[in-house]
Parts: sequence; structure tokens; C-alpha cells
Amino acid sequence: MNPSQGRRAPSRSAEGPAADDKVPGLAARKTAAKLLATVIDARTPLDGLTDNDNGHPYYLALDARDRSLVRAILTTALRFRVTIGKLLSRRLERPLPPNAHTLTHILHVAAAQILFLDIPDSAAVDLAVTHAKSDPRTTRFAALVNGVLRSMARSKDAELEPMLATTLDAPDWFVARLTAAYGADRTTAILAAHRIEAPVDVSVKSNPQLWAERLGGMVLPTGGVRIERLAASVPELPGFADGEWWVQDAAAGLPARLLGDIAGKNVADLCAAPGGKTTQLVLAGANVTAIDTSKNRLSRLGQNLARLNLQAQMVQADLLAYEPPELFDAVLLDAPCSSTGTIRRHPDVPWTKSAADIEKLAALQARMIVVAARLVKPGGRVVFSNCSLDPSEGEALFAAFLAASPDVVLDPAVAGEVPGMDSFLSKQGLLRTTPADLQLANPGVSGLDGFFAARFRRLP
Ligand SMILES: C[S@@+](CC[C@H](N)C(=O)[O-])C[C@H]1O[C@@H](n2cnc3c(N)ncnc32)[C@H](O)[C@@H]1O
Repeated sequence: MNPSQGRRAPSRSAEGPAADDKVPGLAARKTAAKLLATVIDARTPLDGLTDNDNGHPYYLALDARDRSLVRAILTTALRFRVTIGKLLSRRLERPLPPNAHTLTHILHVAAAQILFLDIPDSAAVDLAVTHAKSDPRTTRFAALVNGVLRSMARSKDAELEPMLATTLDAPDWFVARLTAAYGADRTTAILAAHRIEAPVDVSVKSNPQLWAERLGGMVLPTGGVRIERLAASVPELPGFADGEWWVQDAAAGLPARLLGDIAGKNVADLCAAPGGKTTQLVLAGANVTAIDTSKNRLSRLGQNLARLNLQAQMVQADLLAYEPPELFDAVLLDAPCSSTGTIRRHPDVPWTKSAADIEKLAALQARMIVVAARLVKPGGRVVFSNCSLDPSEGEALFAAFLAASPDVVLDPAVAGEVPGMDSFLSKQGLLRTTPADLQLANPGVSGLDGFFAARFRRLP
């Protein structure tokens, strides 16, 4: 069986990391290198590979402790990929051959442990050497792996901080796009925020102060609760099973609130799953129709609403072909995007996506916003949002839409409308957050996801 294609866990005797059970820790490192290869070389998102039901067979063959170690290694290796690459290459007399993928991944997996994780250097180095020896593609490089990693471990105290201070940890294409949009200083601040693991933000049905105390968190200016350090897994936390709150980044909680007073109104949530914003709309008293093209994601939305003891009408449909029996009073379009605003949670995004992907997703969203405008009654409000940092999916897309649509008008968001939102509003009344923003305004508070939101009305 080709382990990268099969869906079942490899048997104990099969080729693959399970065969290395005798060397403690080796299976986890081999899995980490294999998954890093799949992310970087095959541009496969990490979430799917580390899914506990449908993940990569190597990952599914590990126990819970090793799975969590593999996730820690991978998110670290991706978050600091450029820093790690530079510290490795300064130890190599000449660059590794471009086809030396396996060797490069073994080195990155070990370097992530040596530089950033609480793992003894000797264990990280020895396991990398054993791994290199065990693979015919890398056997002859075992001495190089040993020398490079031991040298890195010896010098990290002197070398790491200066390297971090002078390195932008993102691929060139992404740095170029951010710089064009935000300028050099803000880009540096955004990329620095991407190095820090995101906290868990939750939106509460009521009484944020009480839930902040119970969950060991703080109340954010936007009214949600931020938990910097989880005391247990999310489902085990107080109030989760009782449906008192749901996980939602502080920025993700803003767009739905731009619909204003929607009590008793018929509201469409056009790309609804897994339902963070649907939940807000239902709690605001609207009759919500939640539309999504994905059956699986819609079923997650159903489960989330059931836990929260809330109801919405769910429709599985492609928005681009959707024809409702009647138009809606208000519409929310939280469109599928490049997700570059969520890199703190998904550090693989800039390594698996490209500028071409962003342009493709921008084109799709440009079609979707036109459909959204047609689904609202004349005079009704529409909010368009996404979690991209790229203006081609946000500000530029919206400006082009307004310019090409004589039957709609900008409905600017205004200061004081939504608690905690004012500092994220542009002069034009558009919402823009980046992971650096909350941090800059409130030192000591970590950032929030990158989001764009704009509101318009269909002319009566
Ligand atoms: C950014 S996510 C939505 C997140 C959601 N609004 C929330 O707050 O939890 C985008 C969603 O759009 C859905 N989607 C993508 N293309 C679609 C289409 N053509 N029609 C309807 N839904 C679509 C995806 O399945 C995905 O669930």
C-alpha cells in the first residue's frame, strides 16, 4: 500500500513509522516529516492531515500524546519556516540539492524541536539521525544531519534572537502582497503576530463577566471572552455542553452585528457553516435561513445549533444557483476566501496557497456578492465579509462591486455602533482587522483574526 494514499492506518508490520515502535519517539518524528512533506510539496492543508477521524494514516497510527507532539512540531516548523531555513542553510557549505526534499523535512522537524520546543536537544538530534539512516534516500546524509543539528543546538542561544528580529516568517509571494497592501511596518507587525499561537475566543449567550471568571479568561472590548491558556479541552470546559457559549474569534464576531436590529426579520446566512455567525443571527431574534453547499459542514452547523438549543432553517445549496421562495429582509454573505486572516491558527495557509489561489477566490466572491445583492428585498441590508487579509478579496473587490452596481449603495458602519469596533473602521465605514491590531491598541492582549466586512443597501 502507498501510505500517502491509503485511508487505513498502516499495520504494525507494514512500511511506515509504526514499524519503528522499538525506538521511542521515532514514529512521531517520521510522521511529522511525512506530513510536513505533504503540506509543503503537495500543498495539502494541515487540518485534514491531522483530523482524528479522517487524517493521514501515519497520524492515525499514533496515540494521543504523539499526535499532539506531531501537531506541535508541525505548527512550529511552519510558523518559523523561514527562520529555521536560514539557520540551517548557514550551516551547509552549499545548498541542498532541490530534490533533497526528505532530508530537508527531517532537518526542519528536528530544528523546530531544538529551537522552539521543550524537548532535549540530544533526543531531537539522535532521532533525526536515526530517521535519516533508516531511509535509503537520506542514509548517506546521516553525518551531515548530525553535524548541522548539533551545531544549531550549540549556537541557538546566540543566534536565534537576532535571526528572529531580522526575518519575516512567510514566503516571498505573501510578504510582497502584504507589503503592497499595508506597507512595511504593518506587514512586519502582522507577520510577528503570526508567530504567536492564537488564544481561544468564545462568544457567550449572556453575562460575559461571569463566563470570563468561570473559564479563566478576560472580557474583550467586543464583548466576547478570551482564554489565553485552556485548562482543559474545549468540550470539557464549563458551559460548553450546556450551550452557553461557542468558539468564535473576536474579529469573526463583528460582521454579523453590522446587520443591526434584525429581531423578527427573515435573514439569509449565505455561506453559513459551521455556524458561528448563524448563531449570532438567531440569538439576535432573526428567523434565519442558513445556506451552505457542503453537506458535512451543514451537518456540523446542525450539531452546533442543537448544542446551543437554537434553531434555523438549513438549506444545502450552491449559492450561485439558489432561488429562495421569497427575498430576505437582510442578508449576510461570509464568503469562502483564502483564509489569510487565520494564519495564527493555520500556519500552513501561506505555504499551501498562492497568489493565483487568491485571485481565483476573489473572482468567486465577486460573483457571490452580486447574487447576495439580488437575494435581499429592495431597501434591505447586506453584509459581505471574509477572513482574508488581501484587499483583492476585500476593499478592492467591494469598490469594484459598488462601481458596477447602480442598484446598491454603501451603508457605512459608524463609530459607536458595535462595542469595541471603532478602531477597526476605515474612513469609508468598512471594517478591517489584522492580527496585529488588538495587540497594538492594547499592549499585552494578543491579536485577532484578519477580517474584512462591508455593508450595503439595495436601493428601494
Ligand atoms: C468562511 S466559511 C463560513 C463560516 C461561517 N459563516 C461561520 O461563521 O461559521 C465559508 C463557507 O462557504 C461555503 N461555500 C463555499 N462555496 C459555496 C457556495 N457556492 N454556495 C454556498 N456555500 C458555499 C463553504 O462550505 C463554507 O462552509
